[in-house]
Amino acid sequence: MEEKKSFLRQTIDLESPNKNIVPVTTSVEVDGKLSVGGCSVEELVRKYDSPLYVLDEITLRNSCRAYKKALKKYYPGKSLPIYASKANSSIFMSNLVSSEGLGLDAVSEGELLTALKGGVPNEKIVFHGNNKSDKEIQFAVRNNIKIIVDNDFDLKRLEAISNSLNHDLEIMIRFTPGIECHTHEYIRTGSFDSKFGFGIEYLNILFASIRETKHLKLTGIHAHIGSQIFELEPHNDLSEIMVKVILDAKKFGHNIEELNVGGGLGIKYTESDDPPSIDEWVKTISNSVIKACQKNNLDFPTLMCEPGRSIVSTAGITIYKIGAFKEIPGIRTYLSVDGGMSDNPRPITYQSNYSACLVSNPHNFNSKNKYTIAGKHCESGDVLFKEIELADCKTGDLICVFGTGAYNNSMSSNYNRIPRPAAILVCDGEAEIIQKRESPSDLLKYDVLPDRFIKQN
Ligand code: LLP
Repeated sequence: MEEKKSFLRQTIDLESPNKNIVPVTTSVEVDGKLSVGGCSVEELVRKYDSPLYVLDEITLRNSCRAYKKALKKYYPGKSLPIYASKANSSIFMSNLVSSEGLGLDAVSEGELLTALKGGVPNEKIVFHGNNKSDKEIQFAVRNNIKIIVDNDFDLKRLEAISNSLNHDLEIMIRFTPGIECHTHEYIRTGSFDSKFGFGIEYLNILFASIRETKHLKLTGIHAHIGSQIFELEPHNDLSEIMVKVILDAKKFGHNIEELNVGGGLGIKYTESDDPPSIDEWVKTISNSVIKACQKNNLDFPTLMCEPGRSIVSTAGITIYKIGAFKEIPGIRTYLSVDGGMSDNPRPITYQSNYSACLVSNPHNFNSKNKYTIAGKHCESGDVLFKEIELADCKTGDLICVFGTGAYNNSMSSNYNRIPRPAAILVCDGEAEIIQKRESPSDLLKYDVLPDRFIKQN
């Protein structure tokens, strides 16, 4: 029997969790079974059922600390890493990142509210979005949260609000720097053809028009070029372009104090992925900003970045239970699990790849056992793995999928009226619930049958 080397035997990078496939506390116990955060995965499912999202606290904290540490090490000016909460938004995540001194980026009233409830100080929150509602803008202004102006529609409304309040409002602007990077086209945002931000060619007109407002104070600039990026050059180039934009803004009398380079650092989902470390990423950006500032005799702005995936993805795993097998001789064997595209829409949306293992036999991958792992939804495309090798397995066994902390829970749905899984935090052998499992009846909460229909029946 040919067996490949288990990715679970690879050395773990404690400092930069995005370089590992598995959470930093992952181990295979003496009984040969998988544990994370000191908790047996089998025990977790016994207690909390499946499918189950699990987050490892140490991996999360190490990721946050890596950003703080690298910024301190490489950047002489002030700095703030801001967690992009779209990756995984919850009261718990807001609380954790804020306890590590990070700020938070939100894109809706829901994410803003979650951040505030989780204890993130309002001065460390930034509010993004290409189509903010009036209500969302008012909520942000009322809570003294800095708004990142994405377009003229934002600008006009903020000007009107600041005039009606008769006091100054600090704003940042987002622009598209025209940088291409190699990532899926849906998650590429920095090229000229993007729905986000002002075109770079429009900035001089914008700087002039902000000067004409009575109460808007431009304090920062923002750009984000995409997500799951493995190259360092795009961020090096971006930082240089952003310093040039600060110099342009100066000509119009704006004193830009904050430079926010967005997020985008990739993580290792599979063995062929090799992302840079958090340290290397921060070093590249810092050096580029430092060099451009020195060349132009500019004071160092506050350097901000907005990591999402590289904070939370590797900390997360999803556990599924195997149900039906269907062998199509000469073609493939389908193995169906109790979740799928509703808890992880990434494979069907972006053809994303993950790594997985059998919980009861994590090190073994039998090349004779090639499975297609299908979800339980009524959709042929609901496939989590097209072809994966697993140890011998049977109905009732558990499968662990790694790297699911980001853009799984936050992009989950109730397709087919499937309730969302519970989410558990693990640390030092203790497990705590951070999001309760939905039940089918929870899903009826917002259904309304108009009275006349009730009468009819
Ligand atoms: N800042 C801004 C303005 C963003 O739009 C994003 C991600 C981030 C920060 C965080 O980027 P990260 O560090 O996570 O790469 N749903 C897709 C990813 C969409 C990313 C959207 N914006 C996925 O599942 O791959």
